[in-house]
Amino acid sequence: MSVDQRDRRENIPVIVIDGPAGVGKGTIAKRLATAFEFHYLDSGAAYRALAAMAVEAGIEAADVLALIRLSQQLSLQFPPEHDYQAFANGQNIDQALRTEECSSLASQIASVPEVRAELLKMQRGFRQPPGLVAEGRDLGTVVFPDAQAKIFLDASSEERARRRYKQLIEKGISANFDHLFDSIRERDQRDRTRSTAPLVAASDARVIDSTDMTIEAVLAQAEVYIRECLEI
Ligand code: DC
Repeated sequence: MSVDQRDRRENIPVIVIDGPAGVGKGTIAKRLATAFEFHYLDSGAAYRALAAMAVEAGIEAADVLALIRLSQQLSLQFPPEHDYQAFANGQNIDQALRTEECSSLASQIASVPEVRAELLKMQRGFRQPPGLVAEGRDLGTVVFPDAQAKIFLDASSEERARRRYKQLIEKGISANFDHLFDSIRERDQRDRTRSTAPLVAASDARVIDSTDMTIEAVLAQAEVYIRECLEI
């Protein structure tokens, strides 16, 4: 990329939403992408999509070279007309990414620095006019440190387990609160303590603790902050 192209790309507004598992980043980020008519990136889906491809190809997390080769074949899209669901190479893979096998391998893959470096380039490619809303763990710290608006969305682990429990019960799926709570605590621990790109709020991020807030209240606060940052 030429210096000119890079300058132009850095002028394209990016709103990042980082935060722990189960905090509702996806819901907030998609609503903001709709409100601002920006593109959308779920960076977790990139790790999950690569994991799904690895499962299909019989590649293990330790085979870094094969994973890098595989990541170069991944073309992800989140079409607004399909409610920003994940598509890979033209196919809707949104549901396929949610399996336990996929989650577990995605988490292992996400701790391999070479894979993170490869997916970094891909994520930065989503910065296209008129703008981008991107969600994940390290978007404000590593992927888009120059983002115009950074939000770190947080909530207590009890509240996140409660939300997940309610979601599953509403879908008619049986769930065990204690099990969900333990698994959220485990993922937090792994995300916050890994050596490459650990989950941490960027020093210039606006932290929103949504523990006692409704989705509408979080959105209202986020929109005011983003309009200030983007001067719109
Ligand atoms: O948000 P999620 O559960 O879909 O993320 C899937 C996995 O990818 C999870 O183990 C955390 C990891 N991840 C990451 O390391 N960095 C990101 N920016 C997004 C997700």
